[in-house]
Amino acid sequence: MEIAATLERIKGVVGPRGWIADPRGTEPYLVEARGLYRGATRLVVRPASTEEVAAVVRICAEAGLPIVPQGGNTGLVGGGVPPEDGHNIVLALGRMNRIRAIDPVNFTMTVEAGCILAHLHQAAAEIDLLFPLSLGAEGSCQIGGNLSTNAGGVNVLRYGMMRDLVLGLEVVLPGGRVLEGLSSLRKDNTGYDIKSLFLGAEGTLGVITAATVKLFPQIRARATALVALPEVRAAVTLLGELRAGSGDRISSFELISRPALELATRHIPGVSDPLTGAHPWYLLCELSSARAAEPLDEVLEEALGAALTRGTVLDAALVRSERERAALWKLRESIPEAQRHEGASLKHDISLPVAVLADFVARAASWIGANVPDGRLVAYGHVGDGNLHFNISQSAGSDRERFLSRADSVRCAVHELVHEFGGSFSAEHGVGRTKVAELERYTSPVELALMRAVKRAFDPHGIMNPGKVLREQ
Ligand code: FAD
Ligand code: MLT
Ligand code: ZN
Repeated sequence: MEIAATLERIKGVVGPRGWIADPRGTEPYLVEARGLYRGATRLVVRPASTEEVAAVVRICAEAGLPIVPQGGNTGLVGGGVPPEDGHNIVLALGRMNRIRAIDPVNFTMTVEAGCILAHLHQAAAEIDLLFPLSLGAEGSCQIGGNLSTNAGGVNVLRYGMMRDLVLGLEVVLPGGRVLEGLSSLRKDNTGYDIKSLFLGAEGTLGVITAATVKLFPQIRARATALVALPEVRAAVTLLGELRAGSGDRISSFELISRPALELATRHIPGVSDPLTGAHPWYLLCELSSARAAEPLDEVLEEALGAALTRGTVLDAALVRSERERAALWKLRESIPEAQRHEGASLKHDISLPVAVLADFVARAASWIGANVPDGRLVAYGHVGDGNLHFNISQSAGSDRERFLSRADSVRCAVHELVHEFGGSFSAEHGVGRTKVAELERYTSPVELALMRAVKRAFDPHGIMNPGKVLREQ
């Protein structure tokens, strides 16, 4: 069938509010936040229900028309941006934003894929419960995107990644059938765990339309501090000490290098450094508990006092109010935005065994110093999970295009070193289109063959987000 006729059929299914074709309207769906990718499309489809998604996918399957699912478009590996050739439609889930059910007895919530993450937090808080997935983009990313990237963020140490927070999924499969799997069971050993294949699949196996997620008791006591450190090794030492000393009450353990802190204080209004003096590394660490009576401030103060005496901590500022806490978190969460203000950046979202983090940072930083003269290391990340954002910002006054032209070779060198240290080239952001070559390089032939077999089994005609995660065959 003619492409124009196929697009007309899709428009008929979703009605006038469910599609955008004019270039001004489609623009926000075609660009990635850092401007690294700019795609093209003839149609952005915005379905309002699972039935509409299924009907649209069925039409696409018949016509062999490729689909790029998109949530909040905050992804950092180009997975939600259509290719430049304009041959894919974008399926944006934002109108499917209903909370279908909350079950306080079962501690679960069933939500549509287009729900914004921050809205899930609010809905859980209204019944005095917690949905713990938390990341800087939470005001705009959607739960469907979080599921499809298996998002991480700042609370993984305590609650796990998105994969650990989901019990059931509803998915429209590439032929248009609906997998109705909105289970809220915590125990269900009935064969293969099919839902887990969609978590981190980045839209290559189907369109997630709804999910049942876990809720937790609301936090009632917190202790938060910004801690200055002489070196990365001190963070790893403190992690072990605090886990043991607090009875495993750490919920966030975020490393911030001096250059990252400087970017945030320079570019983001209202962000300031609560400590005096410049230190090479910082930690934003938070203990939390659902029991109001826990003396977490005391526990944190005591542990930091001991570390100060030993010299593994240089200075620390404990927060005394919710306002101070919010200010510290703003400092941490605004680093990616501050990096954008600084110019182009090369991002390396890596994870390593915590035991080798310090040695890795020393080796990789010295490589960057010697080989990227127009770049500056802006490292930070979820060090409690062994996850570093080993990012490089272009230096002031350097040429953007020239800096970006080295992205591939720098990425290769950094990832090669990560591999040598037993780490991963994608801790939490995914593969998208940025790291397809890395997946091929660092995944064993056996695992890669299984991934390709899964892709073929779910999507034999290759219409779901082609070219992302796996190269088109
Ligand atoms: P999108 O960007 O729209 O899509 C991401 C991928 O999922 C694409 O491949 C897309 O095709 C697919 N997809 C989206 N929705 C669906 C669906 N319903 N069904 C099937 N496939 C779908 N990530 C972290 O893990 N941890 C962080 O701490 C973190 N911090 C961030 C901070 C900032 C400031 C920014 C800009 C990003 C950050 N990210 C982080 C990355 C990003 O926010 C996450 O990857 C997020 O989960 C993406 O959600 P989204 O709705 O924006 O998805
Ligand atoms: C974060 O943790 O702030 C993001 O995942 C990192 C990034 O944008 O590089
Ligand atoms: Zn992160």
